[in-house]
Amino acid sequence: MGMIRTLRSVLRLRRPEFSRSARSLRAAANVDDLRCIAQRRLPAGVFDYIDGGAEDELTLDRNVRAFRETTFKPRVLRGVGELDTSSTLLGRPLSFPLVLAPTGFTRIADPQGELAVVRAAGRAGIPFTLSTMGTRSIEECAAAAGSGARLWFQVYAWRDRKLVRTMLERAAAVGFEAICLTVDTAVLGRRERDVRRGFTLPPEIGPGTFIEAIRRPVWTLKFLRSEPIRFANVVGLDNGSRSGPATGERAVDLADYMNSQFDHGLSWDDVAWLRTVWDGPILLKGIQTVDDAVLAVSHGVEGIILSNHGGRQLDTAPAPFDLVPAVAEATAGRIEIICDGGIRRGSDIVKALSAGADATMGGRLFLYALAAAGEKGVDHVLELLRSGTERTLALVGASKISDLGPELLESR
Ligand code: LAC
Repeated sequence: MGMIRTLRSVLRLRRPEFSRSARSLRAAANVDDLRCIAQRRLPAGVFDYIDGGAEDELTLDRNVRAFRETTFKPRVLRGVGELDTSSTLLGRPLSFPLVLAPTGFTRIADPQGELAVVRAAGRAGIPFTLSTMGTRSIEECAAAAGSGARLWFQVYAWRDRKLVRTMLERAAAVGFEAICLTVDTAVLGRRERDVRRGFTLPPEIGPGTFIEAIRRPVWTLKFLRSEPIRFANVVGLDNGSRSGPATGERAVDLADYMNSQFDHGLSWDDVAWLRTVWDGPILLKGIQTVDDAVLAVSHGVEGIILSNHGGRQLDTAPAPFDLVPAVAEATAGRIEIICDGGIRRGSDIVKALSAGADATMGGRLFLYALAAAGEKGVDHVLELLRSGTERTLALVGASKISDLGPELLESR
């Protein structure tokens, strides 16, 4: 009798979950868990393209470690009361200080690709940045975004500046809010995982990858059933000319493609030119020194994204988080500072803002989630990051973003 009473009090029956991805999401407590699921679901070459970095991957690793090695100086007994993770960026509200980074070829993680991410970002109340190398077009993303959603467009400097101008006109026509010019990609970094595999975009199923395709049947079937992956923003712009940029109809080696299409001569003069073709805010993505942050202020851009392209460009470049205090001091509130790279938890977001950033940015975090469980996965990871930000605020003794400051971090 007693045993049955005890058993009844400890027995907990969860509602059974029949969908496989919903089951794995339930058990995904953090970004690393989602990364593990993504690794099980994606062909190895696709996973490595997303997960990998340049050369020895020291910067890739450092981006994450910079956060982990920084401890808080939490305050207690401050009566934190009502918690508020919201802030503003470029004069508009953010429900919590994260911006989704531009990622190329998002549809290799899930056929919905950018559309799933746009919708999830809109629901979460944070901006989404569409990559020039995106696999959904400017117009498709705008149509998927609800009213009030914030869309940014990432710009690569095509040699043919007409392409840039046309893309910006299209983005303006459908209400994109801001653009960010990527400045850390004079040439493509050497991602040696991709080099070893001879990885192409879109991925090819050939003799070398056939076994992988069979080992990942769910991904392979989805990939084969959905419309072909294209560089959706480029489609229609090359007029079918052979010298124009490829649209992804044929698989390309990314380094060859980008090195031949993009302008290595990009300079501060081009930033001034962008102003003549874009009316809204301009951010520079890939600033890696205090000197360049100060130059960005003098060139009148609205924001900088401290970034090393997720460790995919120059290996042994500094971790963005390490740069934040000095950049914040040198720019003294004259420009918005976004810290990109290594964000895996809400506590990382709180650290970046305590150090002096206005917001953070992340790419892999939503790509892992998208690969793990599609659009629901992205909702899940954004909620993990939002609630993690809120919880960390409470635990460091802050009730809102404006309570954060360097005094909450152990000096490094
Ligand atoms: C990359 C480019 C597409 O990092 O931005 O792979």
